Amino acid sequence: MPRIAVILGSTRPGRLGEQVAFWVMDQARHRTDAEFELVDLVDYPLPHLDEPLPPNMGAYQNAHTKEWAAVIGRFDGFVFVTPEYNHSTSGVLKNAIDYVYAEWNNKAMGVVSYGAAGGARAAEHLRLIAGELQMADVRTNVALSLFTDFKDFTELAPGGYQTQALETMLGQVIAWSQALAPLRRVRQAA
Ligand SMILES: Cc1cc2nc3c(=O)[nH]c(=O)nc-3n(C[C@H](O)[C@H](O)[C@H](O)COP(=O)(O)O)c2cc1C
Repeated sequence: MPRIAVILGSTRPGRLGEQVAFWVMDQARHRTDAEFELVDLVDYPLPHLDEPLPPNMGAYQNAHTKEWAAVIGRFDGFVFVTPEYNHSTSGVLKNAIDYVYAEWNNKAMGVVSYGAAGGARAAEHLRLIAGELQMADVRTNVALSLFTDFKDFTELAPGGYQTQALETMLGQVIAWSQALAPLRRVRQAA
């Protein structure tokens, strides 16, 4: 059974991201083909990257890095819930991604983004980042519009088609997480 983390990439007081991540988790819980867990970056207050060596060397030195690596290492795939800040993902999510390397490799990822234009630019940036981390990004991006998927810009009220898109995206992340399992096993054996 693949284990998928839903990573909540916004830590602001009053963040909309919490409603979005809870909506994702509510829908994901109905699935019987994977296990889902919410990983809220508020619970992992990583400082600005403070590792002396690049993460791809795999020589993590700080306790908070080792803890974060153990968290990410437990999962087979990821759903990133990202706001759009200045046409990209949030700094806190990028920092958390940058901290580790091997723990992301050969895993699948999908994006639920939100913003004035559905957070599409944040989602596209995350795809570029995923490529460098040897992650497989799935086609479907759930892009929630602040104008039409939130009541008064504050209360999440996603259109029915968004629920369908989320279901499709979750299925793609699960399938690709499973498909990449042989590559993860090769790496573990090496
Ligand atoms: C620093 C910052 C930059 C933002 N830049 C964008 C942007 O480039 N495009 C956009 O659509 N919304 C932008 N917004 C609006 C956010 O999409 C909106 O505030 C959203 O609620 C942020 O997610 P959060 O509440 O989970 O933090 C920005 C908000 C902040 C705080």
